[in-house]
Amino acid sequence: MSPGLTLLGLDLRGRRVVAVGGGPVSARRVLDLAEDGAQVSVVAPELCPDLAAAVARRQVGWVPRPYAGPGDLAGAWLVHTATGQDRVDDRVAHDAAGSRIFCVRAGAPARGTARVPARGRVATQDGPLQVAVHAGGDPRRSVTARDAVLTHLGSGSVDLRARRPRRTGWVALVGAGPGDEQLVTARASALLAQADVVVTDRLVPRGLLARLPADVRVVDVGKTSGSHPVPQHEINQILVEEARAGRAVVRLKGGDPYVLGRGGEERLACEAAGVEVEVVPGISSAVAVPAAAGIPVTHRGLARGYTVVTGHDELPALPTGGDHTLVVLMGVATLRRTAALLVEHGRSPAMPVAVVESGCTPQQRVTVGTLADIADRAEAVGVASPAVVVVGDVVRLSHARTGAGTMPAGVLDLGGEVALGVRPSLRVGAVA
Ligand SMILES: C[S@@+](CC[C@H](N)C(=O)[O-])C[C@H]1O[C@@H](n2cnc3c(N)ncnc32)[C@H](O)[C@@H]1O
Repeated sequence: MSPGLTLLGLDLRGRRVVAVGGGPVSARRVLDLAEDGAQVSVVAPELCPDLAAAVARRQVGWVPRPYAGPGDLAGAWLVHTATGQDRVDDRVAHDAAGSRIFCVRAGAPARGTARVPARGRVATQDGPLQVAVHAGGDPRRSVTARDAVLTHLGSGSVDLRARRPRRTGWVALVGAGPGDEQLVTARASALLAQADVVVTDRLVPRGLLARLPADVRVVDVGKTSGSHPVPQHEINQILVEEARAGRAVVRLKGGDPYVLGRGGEERLACEAAGVEVEVVPGISSAVAVPAAAGIPVTHRGLARGYTVVTGHDELPALPTGGDHTLVVLMGVATLRRTAALLVEHGRSPAMPVAVVESGCTPQQRVTVGTLADIADRAEAVGVASPAVVVVGDVVRLSHARTGAGTMPAGVLDLGGEVALGVRPSLRVGAVA
């Protein structure tokens, strides 16, 4: 068995490191060391493009000649040699040992006195968490192990909250996606694993909350249709007060925080109070819920643009052709009026419409009709919020056309060519 290595964290900030060799192997290490704050000097007659660029931006120094002996290593805390010539690398390692300077000998690590581990980091709100793996001289195995550890740490299943009391807390406005836990970003999972308090909306995947540690406080400020249990200014106040008390606060919001989610107001409130705030985008229901029903909001030959709306005021100003998709959020209660207004302002009564309820969840249901009859169809099956209403020719691509029951004959009748986006006859009206 090979002897063990002593794993240490070196503080090389402001300390001299000498790298002998100007090729790509040297470049990778030199750039890492420079990023860690070391004062790196490269000794090499020529430099690869990455090192030349680092020298040009004065990130590292350069002695433009071959290695000349122990004098080149004077004052160094660490030496790295990767010249591609065994004889030279051995000589550097030998000179470094003679001066009691640790030396990484890249081509033959066992002939040096220090080795570089497979390294990685997870960004946490309380600072980076670093990982280093040595696997007994098997670098590929080290990399595999490092990646596995990083994946695990970033998965959100590990409680990464700081154990030292914080003086100042923080807020992260996190998009929770459209309803399926699998559609949550890695950053969202990582931040949830660091939260002391989660301030949540109604439309977030419940499984995300279920796996929080028992001591994480969940504050539900969810709005149900027609009722606003916690007014926005109080939500802002909760975020600021919790963070000021030194807590790590995740504000978990359905979809994307900035799409009809009042995320901008919450961010501004935190900033105005001097609270550190990060915004993590989420997959918005405006695009993902139609997609879950097989409806792309744009499709070559069918639609080149889309608009997301909630209310009625903006409807008259929108393009009227079926090739501009209209996505209506929070539109169930006003569906009849929306359909009537769209026809009044130039859309065809025969234009296809889909209402997708509880998209991206096991309860997803799609009801399809036309502007002329969608309100009756929705009423007949008891369509309920949350739902996304999609208006335009792209509805013809819906999975519902292969299902049963809820679609009118003819509306979803698609030529194969249209699915491929090449039937120009369907391109009607202007596209904004
Ligand atoms: C207040 S808006 C928030 C939108 C959110 N920020 C986003 O980007 O998806 C809430 C509306 O989004 C839509 N919505 C959100 N999740 C949905 C889902 N899983 N299925 C259908 N509609 C959904 C509904 O129209 C609902 O009324």
